[in-house]
Amino acid sequence: MATDTLTRSTIEGDASRPNVYRNFIDGEWVESASGETFENRNPADTRDVVGIFQKSVKADVDAAVDAAKRAFVKWRLVPAPRRAEIIYLAAEMLAERKEEFARDMTREMGKVLKETRGDVQEAVDTAYYMAGEGRRLFGPTTPSELPNKFAMAVRTPVGVCGMITPWNFPMAIPSWKLLPALVCGNTCVIKPAQDTPLSTYNLVRVLTDAGVPKGVVNIVSGFGPQAGAPMLEHPDVRAISFTGSSTVGRTIGTAAAKSFKHCSLELGGKNPMIVLNDANLELALEGALWGAFGTTGQRCTATSRIIVEKGVYHHFVDRLVERARKLRVGNGLDETTDMGPAVNERQLKTDLDYIEIGRSEGARLMCGGHRLDKGDLHHGYFLEPTVFSDVDPKMRIAQEEIFGPVVSVIPCENFEDAIVIANNIEYGLSSAIYTRDVNKAFAAMRDLYAGITYINAPTIGAEVHLPFGGVKATGNGHREGGIGAIDFYSEWKSVYVDYSDRLQRAQIDRPE
Ligand code: NAI
Ligand code: MG
Repeated sequence: MATDTLTRSTIEGDASRPNVYRNFIDGEWVESASGETFENRNPADTRDVVGIFQKSVKADVDAAVDAAKRAFVKWRLVPAPRRAEIIYLAAEMLAERKEEFARDMTREMGKVLKETRGDVQEAVDTAYYMAGEGRRLFGPTTPSELPNKFAMAVRTPVGVCGMITPWNFPMAIPSWKLLPALVCGNTCVIKPAQDTPLSTYNLVRVLTDAGVPKGVVNIVSGFGPQAGAPMLEHPDVRAISFTGSSTVGRTIGTAAAKSFKHCSLELGGKNPMIVLNDANLELALEGALWGAFGTTGQRCTATSRIIVEKGVYHHFVDRLVERARKLRVGNGLDETTDMGPAVNERQLKTDLDYIEIGRSEGARLMCGGHRLDKGDLHHGYFLEPTVFSDVDPKMRIAQEEIFGPVVSVIPCENFEDAIVIANNIEYGLSSAIYTRDVNKAFAAMRDLYAGITYINAPTIGAEVHLPFGGVKATGNGHREGGIGAIDFYSEWKSVYVDYSDRLQRAQIDRPE
């Protein structure tokens, strides 16, 4: 495909040299004004360089925003169903190339192939959903208070949207942002995470091949403060969408507020799973393993606290430990691997530091806790699946987001106690309860203070057509997914049409 040759390095026939990827600005693949690049390495084997990417700076962001601003003039006028057709075509092309993109993703961030296929699939699902939205984008019509007058509210695009994305869902998260923005008629500049820029390239290349015009989507790769932060200050960027840590989210929200940009923040979590005495324990165990160790625990919705009622506590902990020990840790490209590496050295260090903190706080380390670096694992950032039991809800390992394969099991007295422990936390993204008691299940749906609650399923597993996001330090009230995303990427305009042929004064004239 023509665009492949443009992004890939000009060094042909030399498989030992990694591909060089450029920024994508105004439909051209261009080098950064900095003249500097950085390497994207495979965390399962750091000898493997996935690609060389541009280390962008403010001048690149300015050029990208400028291109997006110019492209907006035409793109906003393309009928939404036509914009949607391009997105629909992109869905089909993504589905066709799923295997290739999943492999790229496993190489750049480590999670196992089953999960990276799921990540690409999420972009496919989002694309189909948003393509359908092109023939909806509904707004209300409503009676006017005056005769011979018509009233409605229509959705209009916001303008240039800046997006800053994390590495844990390298294609799904960019798709949650780009696709609703595009169907609403916005133009975009995206700064992907420095650990996983390739998956954003793959997505944007498909969008371009599907017919998204030049300048409508632009990529500026690089590091947060240099390549992301300039978007926050740029007067022509009207919306910022960020997913990542609460610390960086706070900086982003504060910076965006100065010029009144729309700002959507999707941040951390410390998600509880409650297991009651009457639960189907086998099901709860399966859920706990998947929720805690899927994506190496590197999900904002990861199950990081398991709150277990005392009647089944010891049995549950023993079985969980037995099962966690059996998980196969290794390179995600190997189909038999259950859990891949940490995304980078810094994350591995964070995980190990928290394990030390848990020990020193007096939690019981039941299994795991060590780096794995023997044999094939020597060149990667692997960690054993780690379970702490007898965790006190006040301990740091029970309060802070670790973002690794480290789970805290907390004993509780009863249902009411479990809810108090679950809610007594800074975050509020996902939550789960395992019980066969319908009354308790409904009480939990009402009382768990979180953006998402699962009944008899783990805390992970969001579907793209439902609102995604959380309360408290997890975000600032916006939602991604489905109609929540459409709400973020559009502005309401209220339109009044007076066909009475005379001046009618709303709020003053009251016809008898
Ligand atoms: P991060 O929040 O530093 O990075 C996320 C994105 O923000 C990246 O694209 C990064 O380049 C950008 N960024 C960083 N500093 C910035 C700045 N000053 N201005 C503009 N953009 C900036 O997350 P990181 O370092 O990758 O992971 C650290 C921790 O964050 C994890 O251990 C985890 O606790 C949390 N995290 C949460 C995620 C979630 O899904 N809620 C996703 C990724 C990380
Ligand atoms: Mg990488």
